[in-house]
Amino acid sequence: MIFARVAGVGSYLPSNRVLNDDLIARGVDTNDEWIVSRTGIKARHLAEAGQTSSELGLVAAQRALEMAGASAEQVDLIIVATSTPDFVFPSTACLLQAKLGNKGATAFDVQAVCSGFVYALTIAEKFIRSGSHRRALVVGAEVFSRILDWNDRGTCVLFGDGAGAVVLEAAEKPGILATALHADGAHHGILSVPGNVCGGKVIGDPFLRMDGQAVFKFAVRVLAEVAHECCDLAQVAPAAVDWLIPHQANIRIIEATAKKMGLPMDKVVVTVDQHGNTSAASVPLALDAAVRDGRIKRGQKVMLEGVGGGFTWGAVLLEF
Ligand code: ACO
Repeated sequence: MIFARVAGVGSYLPSNRVLNDDLIARGVDTNDEWIVSRTGIKARHLAEAGQTSSELGLVAAQRALEMAGASAEQVDLIIVATSTPDFVFPSTACLLQAKLGNKGATAFDVQAVCSGFVYALTIAEKFIRSGSHRRALVVGAEVFSRILDWNDRGTCVLFGDGAGAVVLEAAEKPGILATALHADGAHHGILSVPGNVCGGKVIGDPFLRMDGQAVFKFAVRVLAEVAHECCDLAQVAPAAVDWLIPHQANIRIIEATAKKMGLPMDKVVVTVDQHGNTSAASVPLALDAAVRDGRIKRGQKVMLEGVGGGFTWGAVLLEF
């Protein structure tokens, strides 16, 4: 049997750190108390003009490869989860591949918005377990600041930019213990960027639109359900999970999910306060933070969870 295990993690945040009060200076009609009390967000990092998802992803990927002790040429699968690709095409994965100097690996993007990383990691695991590939680079990279309407205070305060990466390798024992992915397109309208490209122009609305309360309720329900589903598949009791890393959208969603799993908050990795919501980058950014500061140790059970536009949701339970 071939299994898949995480060999290295890495992440990168743009240097421009923006506090809630800095948003007021940018002209957003808001205040720190409103943002912190409703979301837990205190700061986010925003990309410089022209800084792209593949550029952020490159640094995260290099750090993950370094931890794995692998070179870029040794990677045979590159998957980038992003909803803010550099171009319509080629894929951000191909652009990242060129920047890394890798030739010949399978490379493609996955678009599942804030569930993107969990989707991409699950796909990579299936490639590795099939025996067709040995070493995957799985990246979540976003510049959501490009698709925010800075006149819509209900959304622009919530998001940030960044990238996270994992090197997933073939192994003799797991590794990834269980995965579960879901979607329900009937809910596409509660979170979307409804514009498209037509005749060389963006037709429709190029900015993120959200029904915040509908998203909140949906996210709390499905994150708890999919966490339990993954535990059942792996035959692991929720209380035996050492670390929960849910998508970092909102501290109240995170707390509600932990409560429904019966996990205390000291078993939950929280970065939303410092990163905001970085969509597909949020889970690998949080994973990298907790591995590098020594909280997550080899052999511990870690539950990763995503939920986002589509609607999409999913979870990966792994032994680190
Ligand atoms: N600063 C100050 N006031 C604001 C701001 C702001 N940034 N944004 C909205 N308000 C005001 C509104 O104008 C409104 O004022 P009014 O009552 O005078 O009309 C008031 O605050 C309440 O607005 P609501 O939108 O009803 O606020 P709510 O309590 O629902 O909180 C929030 C909004 C934080 C977005 C909440 O719905 C939420 O957390 N939803 C989850 C959505 C989420 O996390 N999305 C992330 C993307 S999805 C994902 O990643 C899964």
